[in-house]
Amino acid sequence: MSKKEKIVDAKNLKKIYNQGHPNEVQALKGIDLTVDKGETMTIMGPSGSGKTTLLNCISGIDEATSGEIFVAGKDLQKMKDGEKTRYRAKNMGFIFQTFNLIPVLTAVENVEMPLLVTGVKAKEARERSLEMLKIVGLEDRAEHKPSELSGGQVQRVTIARSLVHRPAIVWADEPTGNLDSKTAHSVFDLMLELNDKYNETFVVVTHDEEIAKKTQRIVNIDSGKLV
Ligand SMILES: Nc1ncnc2c1ncn2[C@@H]1O[C@H](COP(=O)(O)OP(=O)(O)OP(=O)(O)O)[C@@H](O)[C@H]1O
Ligand SMILES: [Mg+2]
Repeated sequence: MSKKEKIVDAKNLKKIYNQGHPNEVQALKGIDLTVDKGETMTIMGPSGSGKTTLLNCISGIDEATSGEIFVAGKDLQKMKDGEKTRYRAKNMGFIFQTFNLIPVLTAVENVEMPLLVTGVKAKEARERSLEMLKIVGLEDRAEHKPSELSGGQVQRVTIARSLVHRPAIVWADEPTGNLDSKTAHSVFDLMLELNDKYNETFVVVTHDEEIAKKTQRIVNIDSGKLV
């Protein structure tokens, strides 16, 4: 696959929350965004500017009010819910703060989830998950539950979970937000290493300029528009 292949192609995306109600919010006001396969990209902008909304809409977690979104050539808005869920599970990884690990499951059980839901056999899922935990430096924490891990370790388990099924694209919303600067950089460097190794595409939202500089491209959003 050529490096220049577009993996995300969004045109004139608009998102209006509570449309027609007094508390209507125009969160996205016509966004055009393309992302190349294998690219690492950061979305930056002030609080409330629409970053999470944009990530939710282009990843198919939420529906845009209008506009077009193609991911790997597929029209997300034309998919039925079930189809969209399966498509996301197979092709996408998520590192969201609100998309937490399951507390009653161990680290390895959490990492296995994306494999098990896409039909990978239990034995293979376990092997691949342990391998992934090794890559993020947590092979000795596989049997720990999230509450028994440090914040940075939880973040690394989340990364392992988001990458274990080799998704074509990974969406990360402030993936290093809760970490001290040193841990943030080592976690992020790890993500970039994996991007390089597997030619995965990363779309990252962060407020941290030093983290953003490590990606190939930075786009800025303000009041629902790219600037
Ligand atoms: N479910 C919702 N219903 C109504 N308005 C919403 C909803 N979610 C977000 N908004 C509004 O849409 C705008 C964009 O919010 P969004 O969460 O995308 O901002 P953000 O750039 O991610 O901010 P932050 O940096 O604080 O995370 C904000 O004005 C917010 O109040
Ligand atoms: Mg946000």
